Amino acid sequence: MFLLVTILCSIVLWTHCLHYTDVQPQQDFDVEQFAGEWYRVGMAYENPAFIKYKNRLLISKGLLVATENGSANLSMWTMTGPKKCLPSFYEYEKTDVPGLFTYFSQRHKIIKDITMVETNYTEYGVVLKYKKMDKEYTQVALYGRTPTLRPELEDKFRKYALSLGFSAESIVIPAILDPCPIPEPKNTTEATD
Ligand SMILES: *[C@@H]1O[C@H](CO)[C@@H](O)[C@H](O)[C@H]1NC(C)=O
Ligand SMILES: *[C@@H]1O[C@H](CO)[C@@H](O)[C@H](O)[C@H]1NC(C)=O
Ligand SMILES: *[C@@H]1O[C@H](CO)[C@@H](O)[C@H](O)[C@H]1NC(C)=O
Repeated sequence: MFLLVTILCSIVLWTHCLHYTDVQPQQDFDVEQFAGEWYRVGMAYENPAFIKYKNRLLISKGLLVATENGSANLSMWTMTGPKKCLPSFYEYEKTDVPGLFTYFSQRHKIIKDITMVETNYTEYGVVLKYKKMDKEYTQVALYGRTPTLRPELEDKFRKYALSLGFSAESIVIPAILDPCPIPEPKNTTEATD
């Protein structure tokens, strides 16, 4: 199966595929411990527009709230222009597998999965979006409890993204902190992305 997928990706669908890897969430992932404030300190996304404007990417701050049933709500601000802050809300529904969530992407109109690949809860977290490994949909992000992380963690993140098939140019570690405040979690079923 692995070989088949690899061959299909490299010959037929090579423009859309990253490396086929069966990414698993961290064992015994605990959403309560993962809750709270995070900074997105690194990101890889093989999208031409993202790569073109990657130098404008800022370190965004987000707040993750664990719901009673083990799902998670993430709210984030992103600066989209001078003094313009755009809030994004995501509802990550839990699945039967701890550390694996799903949500509906308004942008692509599909259900995407979120895999909590690795975290030590108090310092960093690596999160993969869309593990079917499609260049248009798949992103991997490095989160930190602080806006900058130890260089070893940034290096480890870069190597991990490269190992998944991301190009070096698609990996960004922004240097400037987004000045937007965290939005209040609000009652809406609308999630942006
Ligand atoms: C968990 O609760 C949220 C509301 O906080 C709800 O939208 C979601 O459907 C629930 N998910 C599961 C798997 O029960
Ligand atoms: C996570 O990493 C930080 C910094 O190295 C360390 O202080 C902390 O103890 C680690 N947490 C766990 C749960 O290993
Ligand atoms: C999560 O978000 C949903 C939809 O906005 C909301 O109904 C729910 O109350 C939120 N749960 C928590 C714990 O914030």
